Amino acid sequence: MRALVINGPNLNMLGIREPGIYGNDSYDDLVALCETAGAELGFEQVEVFQSNHEGAIIDKIQEAYGAFDGIVINPAAYTHTSVGILDALKAVSIPAVEVHISDVDSREDFRQISYAGMACFARVSGEGLEGYRHALKLLADRLTL
Ligand code: DQA
Repeated sequence: MRALVINGPNLNMLGIREPGIYGNDSYDDLVALCETAGAELGFEQVEVFQSNHEGAIIDKIQEAYGAFDGIVINPAAYTHTSVGILDALKAVSIPAVEVHISDVDSREDFRQISYAGMACFARVSGEGLEGYRHALKLLADRLTL
């Protein structure tokens, strides 16, 4: 099993950006958590990718075709705007889990739509960075059961 974890804009600023919402842990902490949790869950490979650019995220999803068995994606702000990311996820048809650090459902109206989520089989929201462990577990279950 090979998992690709994709993080969208401003997630590289974890630990600095709005700590009251996103916590004090850094992006490097998030990468370490994903690598450790992935290995514990039986993934042979966990690649963690981050970009602030929509097209780069779409390129990465396309490159995942044939290279990864599952995707965990936090499209960040592009969650609420990007039909392109939705279409890329649909194009490759790789099982995907949507994850959000904050509880997006209890935030502003403009965060209430998720385009990427329409191509994901599960969603984890409001569990902080630990939500990525949860998302990887859901992915592992889906790929092995
Ligand atoms: C986020 C929630 C989004 O609404 C926001 O734009 C982000 C992060 C989260 O992980 O809680 O950048 O995806």
